[in-house]
Amino acid sequence: MSVRILGIESSCDETAAAVVADGREILSSVVASQIDIHRKYGGVVPELASREHLRRIVPVVREALEQAGLRLQDVDAIGVTQGPGLVGSLLVGITYGKTLADTLGKPLVPVNHLEGHIHAVFLEAHKAGLAPELPAVGLIVSGGHTVLYEVQTKDVSRSDAGALWSYRRIGQTRDDAAGEAYDKVSKLLGLGYPGGPILDRLAAAADRAPAPVKFGPTKMKGNLFDFSFSGLKTAVLYHLRENPDYQAEIEKREAAIARGQRKFDQLLPLCSPKTLGLIREFQNAVVRDLAERTLKAAVEIGVPTVLVSGGVAANKQLRATFMERSRAAGLQVYFPSLALSTDNAAMIAAAAYPRLQNHILADLSLNASASLPIA
Ligand code: KG4
Ligand code: ZN
Repeated sequence: MSVRILGIESSCDETAAAVVADGREILSSVVASQIDIHRKYGGVVPELASREHLRRIVPVVREALEQAGLRLQDVDAIGVTQGPGLVGSLLVGITYGKTLADTLGKPLVPVNHLEGHIHAVFLEAHKAGLAPELPAVGLIVSGGHTVLYEVQTKDVSRSDAGALWSYRRIGQTRDDAAGEAYDKVSKLLGLGYPGGPILDRLAAAADRAPAPVKFGPTKMKGNLFDFSFSGLKTAVLYHLRENPDYQAEIEKREAAIARGQRKFDQLLPLCSPKTLGLIREFQNAVVRDLAERTLKAAVEIGVPTVLVSGGVAANKQLRATFMERSRAAGLQVYFPSLALSTDNAAMIAAAAYPRLQNHILADLSLNASASLPIA
């Protein structure tokens, strides 16, 4: 009999529920995105996020069960994101998870959201019949995080889905997360929120447009594997200020976005070759930095595998660069599908499985933790 875990995720702006069997087999995964609500504010508004989670959590869980063909009492445990994230948002999932676990008499498994992102890579690999080899270097790169871990099984003789992992933080961003840099640069360019998906496509459309400015590698003292993206964002800001000719097209794009015209086909004609060249140069700098530091860490530590996860892992150029450079370095690199890269609950149910197997459970005193460290 398989072990079926209902996962619940509400740490930021997606209300999500999923059922995963034996830590690897996705039976259902439902994500209700709040992007349309936060878009007009240019970022996630915490109060609105918790209110929306409250509205969506019950139907989202119901849909996840329906899609899995299960009733609530059929699940073996409830896995819920404890942190890190927005406290008000986390509390909605935690409270609902506690209530379900208590009324059903099922175990409640607290999950770290970042550990979930790493499990997303294994869920995807499992679909292709693969199992990434540990130890690995894991990069979690999203709107809220840019962090590099060494991931290892606690018991090195185990490599199954029920094995607990340990983490050693190798590096992290000193300022903005990479996704945050995408979102901020997008805002500067009048391209709306979130910035990642549109900048990704516009960079690819830049063709041979020359870069109007060059962004060199970020130089930092101290830990070689730390990241920094706020200098790059400021460099874009200064470049735009020094070149007032960008202003007219920025205003046109802002007006288009205000009319709801935010699709790639609608925005591309409003971008000059100079703007496209700038976007491509920005993306080159972000991708180069993420790939170089991550792969260097893997080579230096001597691990065979690189795991890349989080919203920015959806970036096409990032994937291509990691693939190409890891091949050259003799490393295996794994990504989740686009749906599993961004926040979802399948990754939470997957991360709950080894914890359930090892009796790492919570009781009704479980509380949200905005900056929960990864164990
Ligand atoms: O993991 P996620 O859904 O939520 C957080 O935990 O932050 O990541 C969202 C972030 C946003 O900053 C968004 O701009 C970025 O991921 N993103 C991308 C792409 N798709 C989403 N960044 C670059 N390229 C993309 N294709
Ligand atoms: Zn996330």
